Amino acid sequence: MAKLIAGVTTSHVPAIGAALDNGRSGEPYWQKVFGGYDFSKKWIAETKPDVVFLVYNDHASAFSLEVIPTFALGCAESFPIADEGWGPRPVPVVKGHPDLAWHIAQSAILDEFDLTIVNKMEVDHGLTVPLSLLCGQPKEWPFKVIPLCVNVIQYPPPTGHRCFMLGKAIRKAIDTFDRDLRVVIFGTGGMSHQLQGPRAGFINKVFDNNFLDHFATDPQSLVKIPHLEYLREAGSEGIELVMWLIARGALDDDVKEIHRFYHVPASNTAVGHMILENRH
Ligand SMILES: [Fe+2]
Repeated sequence: MAKLIAGVTTSHVPAIGAALDNGRSGEPYWQKVFGGYDFSKKWIAETKPDVVFLVYNDHASAFSLEVIPTFALGCAESFPIADEGWGPRPVPVVKGHPDLAWHIAQSAILDEFDLTIVNKMEVDHGLTVPLSLLCGQPKEWPFKVIPLCVNVIQYPPPTGHRCFMLGKAIRKAIDTFDRDLRVVIFGTGGMSHQLQGPRAGFINKVFDNNFLDHFATDPQSLVKIPHLEYLREAGSEGIELVMWLIARGALDDDVKEIHRFYHVPASNTAVGHMILENRH
């Protein structure tokens, strides 16, 4: 049977991808960011997942305001890299796992989570920057990727509680897939940041660290955070953190925190990163 072994959460700041692609990752400013992932690169190379279920949001690359799915599950064989204005990032095409993706679609939809099934989708920095942070610059990504694209762009995004419960439904689907696969779930985005308006550049280290402190041991306290609190305390783009709660919901209640990293700034964002392992 398929087995969910761990969860990885990380910010997906576009400037991190640009720094790597333009050969600037060794600069002191960026080394402080990339250094937080040295452990993680070794960990994922040793963990060798077959499939990564990657929760992220699209930034007007695959979807515009014409179509706004709350949860869009990528069931394709492959996902081309989106051109976000500077040409597609020079990273490998993302290969999917249609069999597991369709199984998850069936299981979750019959569990009353109305996912949008997507058979053709370009993926942007929200998905590729986490891959780069964990895998560096390989010729091929070392695992298959199932994208789950969440609307955190256009109000109303899903609640943290809905995301957490969807994580549980995804976990049930993975547990019932009749093939021996090692699966890791990624929750991406965050942490506090605001890209627009009079508070542009807003960062809240207290909020972020409280979120990190409770993420492994008391996610129920985070699930209750309302949208307005994210907006006020974590900035207008801090709502991306609900995507971390999908990953947390999929994991066991009792997890082992094996890595944590927090750094300000990367571009105009606070970077947060954790790795949690299921104990069994
Ligand atoms: Fe984002």
